[in-house]
Amino acid sequence: MPAQVTATEHAFAQGFGRRPDGAWSAPGRVNLIGEHTDYNHGYVLPFAIDRRTVAAVGLRDDRVLRVRSTFTDDEVSLTIDDLTPQAMAGWSAYVLGVAWALADEGHDLSTAPGLDILIDSRVPVGAGLSSSAAIECAVAVAFNDLWELDLSPLALARIGRIAENKAVGAPTGLLDQAASMLGREDHAVFLDCDSEGAEPVALHLREEGLEILVMDSRVEHEHATGGYRDRRDSCEKGAAAMGVATLRELSEDDLARASDVLDDETYRRVRHIVTENARVVATVRTLDEGGPRAIGALLDASQASMRDDFAITVPEIDLACATAVAHGAIGARMTGGGFGGSSIAVVPADARASIEAAVTAALAAAGMREPHLFTVTPSQGARRDA
Ligand code: GLA
Repeated sequence: MPAQVTATEHAFAQGFGRRPDGAWSAPGRVNLIGEHTDYNHGYVLPFAIDRRTVAAVGLRDDRVLRVRSTFTDDEVSLTIDDLTPQAMAGWSAYVLGVAWALADEGHDLSTAPGLDILIDSRVPVGAGLSSSAAIECAVAVAFNDLWELDLSPLALARIGRIAENKAVGAPTGLLDQAASMLGREDHAVFLDCDSEGAEPVALHLREEGLEILVMDSRVEHEHATGGYRDRRDSCEKGAAAMGVATLRELSEDDLARASDVLDDETYRRVRHIVTENARVVATVRTLDEGGPRAIGALLDASQASMRDDFAITVPEIDLACATAVAHGAIGARMTGGGFGGSSIAVVPADARASIEAAVTAALAAAGMREPHLFTVTPSQGARRDA
């Protein structure tokens, strides 16, 4: 059993004075390519990472949900009958929100037993690696088993997204929860956010001597407000002006008309989404035909599009990506919602140390905060551990 699971069970026993009935876990994610395309019904290509959130859970003989964690001292409790988004605040909304979303989606919790829940997260918080989705998906698989709901991984991902949108209040798409639920070792998840069809795509990183370096800018991002919502609004405005329900319906052939119809800023937002969808599809094809060493130009083009057209990067991210590529990375791009958070570089394993040193030195020379640099490996999605 992984050490994190044992540690979480131990914390459960200390917090609740009893043993849990099981432990479930779910990972954070890196998005390889396909940014802000999810809520536009487009394509994304994320993978689950080897940083997980474990939920140790014990059945109760009443209807109370009690939540504790290893990162705060407080205990939050609410009965299943009193679950509403308004009754939840702070991080426990990621847990209780999933229970509420299940009920709100019509799953019968009228006889569901209460639960004691202990959360231990090893997904860095605020780094843009979906620590929130990891919590949602870990408890979603636990609820699914303990309440015998028999929902598919994709259905649980949708429930996690509803919790994020309506209980937490962040207007996000399905990317994070789909990656956390559907991830596989050494594979990315190619998700069509319109049909919600998903298929694994082999990455072959280790055979090719490659690693994924995460460069956490340590610039904080916030998705419930501000820029993320603003970009979403621009996309909706662009789609309406172009006469389509979603930007997914546009292709690169429509961009000439878009530049006539739209104001310059909206045009750039739309162009990012349209070209990013094309890059995701091209990346899947390139991985298949040429392997991961062949995708660098697509990653770099995505980074440029996020920087120049969608305007969601920050100077720390732009410099980290440019420096990594200048020092031998195959390609580099921001990952996640933007306005801070992390970028990723696909790097030859034997060049990683020198790329790390170059990135750290470049940011220091620019007077920027020292980044957190670490590697991640594509890993299995949500599961029962014990
Ligand atoms: C955040 C959101 C996702 C997605 C990305 C941008 O991670 O949670 O739904 O929109 O930003 O690709």
